[in-house]
Formats: sequence, C-alpha cells, structure tokens
Amino acid sequence: MQPNEFEIESMPGDNPAQKTIAPTQPAFWRQVVWRLSPGTTVGRAIIAARQRLEDAECDTPHLDAQVILAHVLGVDRTWLFAHHDYELTDSQTETFTALVTRRMRHEPVAYLVGHREFYGLDFLVDHRVLIPRPETELLVDAVIDHIAMREEQTITVADVGTGSGAIALAVAANCPNSRIFAVDLSQGALAVACENVTRLDARGQVTLLHGDLLSPLPEPVDMVVANLPYISSDVYRRLMRDVRDYEPQLALEGGPEGLDTISRLLTQAPRHLNPFGLIFLEIGYDQGRAVVQLAEQILPQASSIRLRQDYHGHDRLVIIAL
Ligand SMILES: C[S@@+](CC[C@H](N)C(=O)[O-])C[C@H]1O[C@@H](n2cnc3c(N)ncnc32)[C@H](O)[C@@H]1O
Repeated sequence: MQPNEFEIESMPGDNPAQKTIAPTQPAFWRQVVWRLSPGTTVGRAIIAARQRLEDAECDTPHLDAQVILAHVLGVDRTWLFAHHDYELTDSQTETFTALVTRRMRHEPVAYLVGHREFYGLDFLVDHRVLIPRPETELLVDAVIDHIAMREEQTITVADVGTGSGAIALAVAANCPNSRIFAVDLSQGALAVACENVTRLDARGQVTLLHGDLLSPLPEPVDMVVANLPYISSDVYRRLMRDVRDYEPQLALEGGPEGLDTISRLLTQAPRHLNPFGLIFLEIGYDQGRAVVQLAEQILPQASSIRLRQDYHGHDRLVIIAL
C-alpha cells in the first residue's frame, strides 16, 4: 500500500466503504476507525462489535457489546435477545460504533454508559471517580451489621475517600439511624458524589466534605469507614490498562507499600472518634498482616483488631475497635 491509502477490512454488518480509515502507517500508530453500515440489525451489530472487542483483547467482549448497545438504544439487555432483527437508526449506529471504539481502547464500560450498580443502587460514574467494586460490598455489609446492632441510637459515620458516594449511600439507604459525613480530597469526585446524593434522595442523611482524610469532620464520629487507595506504586505501574489508564490515580495508588494513606488515617483516627469508636478498612488481599501490624503500632490502645476474609478466602477487611 502507498502512503495515504486506506486499509479496508470486512465484518458482518460493517460498511467497508466507511471503514478503516487511517493512512497506512506502522501498525503501532495506525488509528482504526470502525463503522457499521446503515440499517445494521441488533444481532449483526453485536456480532461485529464482539469480534472487534475480542481482537482488542477485551475480557468480556460479548457482554460489553450487549451492555453498550442496550445503553445506546435505552433498553434492558434482555430486550436485545427478543429484537435481533431491529434495525439501528443512523444516529444509534454512530453512537454505538463510537462507544465500541472507545472500549477497544480499553476504556471501562461503566464510564462509557455512565453508571454502575453497587449494593442494589444505581450510581453515576465518570473518570473523576473509581468505579465501585463488588468486593467493597463486604465492607458495607460489615458496617450495616454493626449499625443494626445499635438501632435505637443515631450512629455517626465518616466515609473517608467517598468517590462516587457508593459506601456512604449504601449505608444510608440501609440504616435510617445513620448520619454520614462523606469526605474526599478530590473536588471532581465530590461533584459526582453530590449528583448521586441528590438522585438517591439522601441529602438529609449524607453531608459531603472536601479535604484530607478526617480533617474536615465538624465533630467526632462513632465509625470511620474507608476504602482508601491501597495499591503499591510498583503494582500500580503494572495494573491492567482498563484501570491504570482510566481510573483516577489518586483513588488507587497508596505509596511504596500501598499503606501511606491508611497509615495517616489510623494516626488521625483517635482525635476524630467517639469513645468505643470503630474503624472499618478495605485492604488489598495480601495486606492483612501488614495492616494489622500497622494498627498495633499506631493504635496500641485498640481493644481489638480483626481481619475478615472475602468470598475467595483472601484478607479484605480490617475492623478496629478503640
Ligand atoms: C479507592 S477510591 C474509593 C471510592 C469509593 N469509596 C468506593 O469504594 O468506590 C479512594 C478514594 O479516596 C480518595 N482519596 C485519596 N486520598 C485521599 C485523602 N488523603 N483524603 C480524602 N480522600 C482521599 C480518592 O479521591 C478516591 O475517591
């Protein structure tokens, strides 16, 4: 091929005439623009997108293609199964191919569709916040269980590093006797959390605060709950690109051993907790011993420090009682 010629490939549903469309260059900088022909059906669009996503080494290409298409059409994924022959409009086709092209570059599906379910609630998410993870539901379970034991009193909670507001809002939705301060250092994250607080109608229960760890709290609290950055700098550099290239570094990287932010939180905690206060921390699967040792050093007055495992049997939570 000569410079400025265009490469054309063919897939079911693709429109070769509109397709690839970058001058011939060494492969590493060729930008492939992908298009589907007008009148492509749901079935063909999914097959074509799945193939593209498989080629791009996405982990769940079929599911991703379905979730993106359902989002573009404004329907449930189940609707797609019964409407394989539905023909996409031009604008639907264009939006779908644009989103699939972003997914081919490994942008997370949750950012493409703009939301993610967590603890049965729908959260708006974008590149300013970490996408809530299923393992964090274990932390929410533990907090809700403790609050349920004290249902006659109002419990004050600080959700430190609230991100999208996932933990704060899941606890608020399940514990009417809780009052929650949700803190983040990132103004961008707080803007997303604010939208979620409003959408989930929790303004009376959740107060958003900007600042470092516990420093913005206006009063001592009964519980500190935190899913802070805990990935070591070395592991951070080797994370899959879906995470490293798209999710906020501030949400993920916790210094050389991953424990810098957790360590500072433990140091601040006694000044911001009521007597018999509790601390709930999510940790990395291999950090159990290190975090327990850290807590023993920083909080020798603690009455108990317990580890809890996730469903894979890995250490995932540390619960500290002062
Ligand atoms: C792992 S994300 C957790 C987000 C959310 N809580 C969740 O579980 O989905 C960590 C969050 O901590 C915030 N963060 C990092 N350092 C912080 C600090 N020193 N003070 C307050 N928030 C911080 C980040 O901006 C990010 O939103």
